[in-house]
Order: sequence, then structure tokens, then C-alpha cells
Amino acid sequence: RSVGVVVVAAGSGTRLGADVPKAFVQVAGRSLLSYAVERVTQVAHLARLVIVVPEGHGTATALGDVAPVPEGTVVVPGGAERTDSVRAGLAEVGEVDIVLIHDAARAFTPVAVFDRVVAAVAAGASGAVPGLPVVDTIKAVDADGTITGTPDRAGLRAVQTPQGFDADVLRAAYASGLSATDDAALVETLGHHVRVVAGDPLAFKVTTPEDLARAERLVASWAA
Ligand code: C5P
Repeated sequence: RSVGVVVVAAGSGTRLGADVPKAFVQVAGRSLLSYAVERVTQVAHLARLVIVVPEGHGTATALGDVAPVPEGTVVVPGGAERTDSVRAGLAEVGEVDIVLIHDAARAFTPVAVFDRVVAAVAAGASGAVPGLPVVDTIKAVDADGTITGTPDRAGLRAVQTPQGFDADVLRAAYASGLSATDDAALVETLGHHVRVVAGDPLAFKVTTPEDLARAERLVASWAA
């Protein structure tokens, strides 16, 4: 089974308060994107890597410290919303059996997580996403903040990336023109089965300055 990976790195990262797009923020002298790509290149049966970068970001600047990348790697400009960026990347992924969509911001996701996602799709699921049990109780609320429900925590998962899909299923989902913050949601909407496999705390998304400090500590712990 051939695997194509789309790394979305076109977000602005406003919540991080950095002066460069989030994927290009440095941790111990390297961009978040470079950490993400380093792990992606170790994925078994990787046939195609597509990196989606902010509009106006040239290939050379985009790749900067992201080397080496596999031959045939493509860099394309993203769009205003994550969905637009995924759609742009998907258009370049070519003839592969399984497509993984991965956030550059989840730069430290272990290769084992990618492998679990690929294995679940190869075993027949239309899609698979990594997830962790939820530690907080989650409330559903209305516009006034009045609680409308308390789902049983045991049945909830907080999901991460990479999210993996049968390539034809994901293309059909994106062709539907729907939009979502999460690729799996599009595929679920079309009635396909998507499984949750074990995620990893290291697949955390760098979103706030506290997350960036955590990333710095993590990399420092490897160097020690
Ligand atoms: O903003 P957020 O952290 O949810 O973004 C998740 C991932 O999607 C990041 O890796 C970001 O670079 C990417 N993204 C994108 N294009 C956008 C918005 C987000 O590629 N328009």
C-alpha cells in the first residue's frame, strides 16, 4: 500500500503571538515544520510528500532547514482556512492508496502514531485518527452558557493528527465542498467508518506560548 502525506503548514499562528507563520517558529534553532517532516520521512511506504505553506512563501524559504526531503516532494501554497490548505495539498498527492493529513503544529508526533493510523486504514477502515481519553468532564452548552448535556466521558476522545484515509474516500469528501476543522468529520458526514487508534501526548499541537515552552523543554531533554 502506498502512502501519501500532506503536511499542512499554512496557518498564521495568531494565538502564538509570533512574527512568522507558526510552522516556521523556531524551537532550539529549527522550525516546527522541520521536526514534523523529519518524522514523516520515516513513515513506511511513503510514496509522496506534499507540504502546504503560506501563500507567498517560496519553496526555498519554505524548505529552509527542512532537509533532506524525499525526491518528488511538492511544496504548494495553502488557503485562508485549514480546509482550503488540505484541499490544495490533496490535489498534489497523486496516485496513492492511503492519504495522511498532518498538522505541522503537531511537530513532535512519534512515527509509531503514523504507523498505527496507516495500519488501521490498511486493515479496512475508511479512515483512522489518533485520539486520547478525555481527562476533563465535557459539557455541551447553548449560546447563553446553559448546559444542555453532559456526555459520558468514557465515550469521548480528544483527537490529533495524522488523520489517515482511503485516498478515494478522502477525495470524495473534499469534492463535496463541505468544510470542517477536522478531516475525519467530513468523511463521517458521508457515512464512512472512521476509527480512533491510540494517540500520544507528544502529538500535542503547538498553539500557545506555553505549548512552545513545552516544545523547548522536550527538545532540551533529548539533547541532555
Ligand atoms: O490553527 P491551527 O493550529 O488549528 O492549525 C492546525 C494546522 O493547520 C497547522 O499546522 C496550520 O499550519 C495548518 N493550517 C493551514 N492553513 C490554514 C490554517 C491552518 O495549513 N489556513
